[in-house]
Amino acid sequence: MEVHIVKGRVSQDIPVVVLGYLNEENWVNAGGKEWKNFRSKMQSEGFRGNLAEGFTWGGGGLSAGRLIALGLDRREECRPDALRRAGGRLARLSQTHRFKEVFLEWPDRGLEGDDHENLRAFLQGVFLGNYRYDRFKTQKKDESPGRLEVLHLCVPSRLKTFAQSCILETKKYTEAVFLARDLVNGPPSRVTPRVLAEEARRMARANRYALSVFGKSHLHRMGMEALLGVNRGSAEEPFLIHLRYRPPGGAKRKVALVGKGITFDSGGLSLKPAGSMETMKMDMAGAAAVLGVFHRLAEFHPKVEVHGIIPTTENMPGAAAYKPGDVLRAYNGKTIEVLNTDAEGRLILADALSYAVEQKVDAVIDMATLTGAVIIALGTRITGAMTNARDLWRGLRQAMEEEGEAFWELPLPKDYEADIRSRIADVKNLGAGREAGSIAGGLFLKEFVGDTPWVHLDIAGTAYYEKDYPALPHTPFGATGVMVRSLLTYLRKKG
Ligand code: BES
Ligand code: ZN
Ligand code: ZN
Repeated sequence: MEVHIVKGRVSQDIPVVVLGYLNEENWVNAGGKEWKNFRSKMQSEGFRGNLAEGFTWGGGGLSAGRLIALGLDRREECRPDALRRAGGRLARLSQTHRFKEVFLEWPDRGLEGDDHENLRAFLQGVFLGNYRYDRFKTQKKDESPGRLEVLHLCVPSRLKTFAQSCILETKKYTEAVFLARDLVNGPPSRVTPRVLAEEARRMARANRYALSVFGKSHLHRMGMEALLGVNRGSAEEPFLIHLRYRPPGGAKRKVALVGKGITFDSGGLSLKPAGSMETMKMDMAGAAAVLGVFHRLAEFHPKVEVHGIIPTTENMPGAAAYKPGDVLRAYNGKTIEVLNTDAEGRLILADALSYAVEQKVDAVIDMATLTGAVIIALGTRITGAMTNARDLWRGLRQAMEEEGEAFWELPLPKDYEADIRSRIADVKNLGAGREAGSIAGGLFLKEFVGDTPWVHLDIAGTAYYEKDYPALPHTPFGATGVMVRSLLTYLRKKG
């Protein structure tokens, strides 16, 4: 999609976009005769300007051809995120109605809050909502809805320079998100650990990142038994991928992003039921988020050194598979009793987190589709966060708020540590049955970060949507690309 900055209406045939708050008579950028007809039509159809909702009409008496109204919720509540959702709705409406081009005159006044933040969020929403994974559709043209191709945007002159740079930034941000989405949406027999490694290699070449890719024999020599253990039932080679971005002038701070890269989680011998396996191609969404960030990271010239660390393998029940009862020794020397081969994410992360800490970084942020329990606790639209470092988490959560990525913090209580103690090894990969499953996962990971400031993000719910949520038109069905935007924003600001 392209955004063209224009001086005014380019053609009478192009639908016009209007923005408005819930239950307000006057829409912020609407005017003219035709507007009156449209407004009464909206009223008679019961459209009042709710959050993330849109309404379009091309009926009689409209010289404009078509109008598209986008709701912004109540004025008192309006945050940039309402504009992100409105933008998403615009893209989705354009797809279903096959509008290839639309025109929007950005209001000079009348919008609440910061103009820059609002415009930025709106543009993000349009790009994000326009995404669709149709790589395997053979009849793209006839059967599926269209895509918005051009947004003609007229902005007040004081916003012109900002709008231009904002369009460029938004393109980079959303390309990063789309790379993550594409990897997660890709079929699991195509997106293998090797493919993730190749993707890392491609971006290392393009951006002059340093890259190490450790394969099976190397992992043996390093003593990454946990990652190797999970891999044993699979025919695909495991890898530990390590990408490094170094700012030209040197860095004061080093941050490691660690992403769970299980390219398919069958559960292993503790096999998942068929239904639970349907979406398990998404179990590498943490890895995809890291790759998404690195895809566009260098172009923002952050001043912080960034390490991208991805442990990746399938979790399969092949003849050589690891078994409940096995004991594995992680990279930092701690021993782990495996009681359930489906709790494999924390195992591969045990090695990866130990390795990250060894790089002497100042902060570690891990992203993992770690537990079904986080979906029970928080649902699919809120990421579960756990941390041992208040300051690090404060900075990161600020970025998540800015990017409209919802989170809730879960505690890591000392009292629950007993739940992951093993009678025969240092820790076990199960907690106390069905109790506090996400916290047990967090406490397990904590064993492998030592004193390094660390945030764990359980994105099992937020990484992949099995349906379209009406309130979130900018994150359609399938992979969401969660955390890519927040991390880019975090790394730029904390650099
Ligand atoms: N990949 C799953 C977690 C998951 C579940 C992600 C649903 C996305 C949607 C993880 O490896 C897993 O299977 N966890 C187990 C842990 C349990 C055995 C302690 C789970 O959540 O049931
Ligand atoms: Zn699992
Ligand atoms: Zn898993």
